[in-house]
Formats: sequence, C-alpha cells, structure tokens
Amino acid sequence: MTVSLMDPTDISKTQDVETTPFPLDRWYVAALGKELTDKPLGRTLLNRAVVMYRTPDGQIHALEDRCCHRDLPLSLGTVEERGVRCGYHGLLFDGSGKCLEVPGQAKVPSKAKVSAYPVREQDSIIWIWMGSDASSEPNCEPPEYKVHSDERYRYDGDVYHYNAPYQLIHDNLLDLSHLGYVHLRTIGGNASIHMNAEMKVESEGDSVRVLRLMPGSTPPPTYTAAYPFKDKVDRWQEIVFHPSHLEIWTGAVDANTESLDDPNRGGFHLRGFHGVTPETDETCFYFWTQASNPVSNPEETMKLVIEQTAMTFDEDKVVIEAQYANMKRFPDKPMIDIHVDVGPNRARRIVDRLRGA
Ligand code: FES
Ligand SMILES: [Fe+2]
Repeated sequence: MTVSLMDPTDISKTQDVETTPFPLDRWYVAALGKELTDKPLGRTLLNRAVVMYRTPDGQIHALEDRCCHRDLPLSLGTVEERGVRCGYHGLLFDGSGKCLEVPGQAKVPSKAKVSAYPVREQDSIIWIWMGSDASSEPNCEPPEYKVHSDERYRYDGDVYHYNAPYQLIHDNLLDLSHLGYVHLRTIGGNASIHMNAEMKVESEGDSVRVLRLMPGSTPPPTYTAAYPFKDKVDRWQEIVFHPSHLEIWTGAVDANTESLDDPNRGGFHLRGFHGVTPETDETCFYFWTQASNPVSNPEETMKLVIEQTAMTFDEDKVVIEAQYANMKRFPDKPMIDIHVDVGPNRARRIVDRLRGA
C-alpha cells in the first residue's frame, strides 16, 4: 500500500512512498535543543528527510531536506537571519519553506517552495509533528518534561544512532530485569534480585507504567559512587512508556528508612528521558537525558553519573544491535515470552493499535 505525500504548495513531483509502519499525527523527538546551533542539521525521521535549523534569534524550523531547484540537501547549506541558504546556487528559504531569494534573478518563482514541518522546543527537547499527510496540523502541544527545569536536579544527555528498529529500544527500557546481566559495571547489581523484583504493570490510554521494587538490595557501582549509602538499599524503578518517549525514574534509599510511596523521599535519584524516534523501518535515534540530585560535589558527581549512564547505554546498544542482526539471521524462528515481557508486550499492542495494524 502506498500513500501520497503531495503538498499542494510544493512544486516537487508527487512521490509515492511506502506507508510507514509508525503511528502518525503525533509529536516525535527530532533533536536535543543543544544540537541546534548555527548550522543546519539533516536527519531522516520516520523515513522522511528533514533539515532543522535555528536562526540567530533562537527560533527553530524544520523543512524537507531538499532544495526545490536541483535537489541538493538543504542541510548542506548555511543558516542566515532570514532562513537557510542552499549550498549549491544560493536559494534562500524561510521557516515556512518559501523561497525568499534567487541570487542573480529579480523574480522568485511563485512555486519555489519546500514543505515545512511543525516543530517546537519544549524543556530543551525539539519535537516535530509527523502528520499522515502534508495538511496534518498539530492538535496538541508536545509533552512537557519538567525534570529539566526542576532545581533539585542537574542533567545532561546525548543522541545515539541505532542499527535496530525503535521498538527494540522500547522493549529494553520497559524490561529492566536485564540490568543484572547487561549492566553489572554500572547500575546493575544482583541478577537474582532483578529477576525476582516485585513488579506491577498498569496501562492507561496510550501509556504503560511498570513499577519494580527491590527492597534490601546491594547498591550497584554507580549508586555507591554517587551517594553515601550506609549498606543495603531499597531500590525502585518506575518506567512510563509513551509511543514517542519513555520516562524512567529509578533510585534507592538506605534500606528501611523511607517509604517508596513518598514522592519527596531522599536518597539517590536518577530521572531519565528517553526519546525513541524511528529513522527508517530498521534504524532509529535514541535521544536520552539523565538527571540526578547530587548531594555533594555536584559537578564531579554529575560528570560521573553521565559517564556511567553513557557506559550503560553503550552496553544496551551492543546488545540491541546484536539482537536485531541475529533476528535477521533467523527470520523464521519463533520467540517465546517470559514473565518480564508483560510491559514490552503491552507497549507493542499500543503501537500496533495506533498504526492501525
Ligand atoms: S540546488 Fe539549491 S540552489 Fe540550486
Ligand atoms: Fe539497559
């Protein structure tokens, strides 16, 4: 089945493209705010080539990454006050995709336009509206993520490219039982405690919440390096899935000192934002930030937390890409489910429903 992405304002030829296997008419993470500096950023998102840029006044824009003159990617051009200038013959396009200038030619052809995408910068995250056709306008604002402005926390993050479909990252993040096997050097800990954690899975609308509690655990290396735990700890992991991103709140308090029901409990906290956006059917982008609440030496503690988080996510990338490569080597072999798969399977059912499968 094919769909037409024809934009009536675009002079480009009509293109028939494969229907994307992704939920459309929603916001996806396109970049971290810090990625958009003074140069255009080209990125394929949901099989569509997009160029994003920030003008000197701080405004962000996203256009189809294609000059309407001779098809050069606009991401190879330069950013100016009025827009992005193509790097081949200098056509200048504003944030709506309209051509403002053809160097050496007095009149700009009325059809000199490229498609524009709605974008927003919210809590230092760049969101893009991926519509089912060119006339699809946002019917809501992108999700807020207030942890980035919570003065109790500091954060940083990065963007990873994955040679694996985006739902394998959903699976990984919704099932933290893997910590005891994959992340022993950082946030792991005792594998048996992870596999036997008390787990609760709830669904509401397009979200899934997984809560895992591990009382009386030995704190893992990242935790002891970042926080002065006395001995055993009561650990929690709360994962909230949305089709465009996950929020993961994990941490620990000294064992038997505080209620894990108290949202203002002390101890060591990690609050992760995980934007997972398809690039193609087989590849994706993983936009992550990690926030924590350092109790002493904030600069050094956060440096350590971010380094260890990156190490953790590097370990996940190795596993997930190897998993996908092997799935392609054994395409006809069935997989079995175990007890840790309840959350991931619910998320997959939501994504299937949203894409009309
Ligand atoms: S290809 Fe862009 S100006 Fe010619
Ligand atoms: Fe992991």
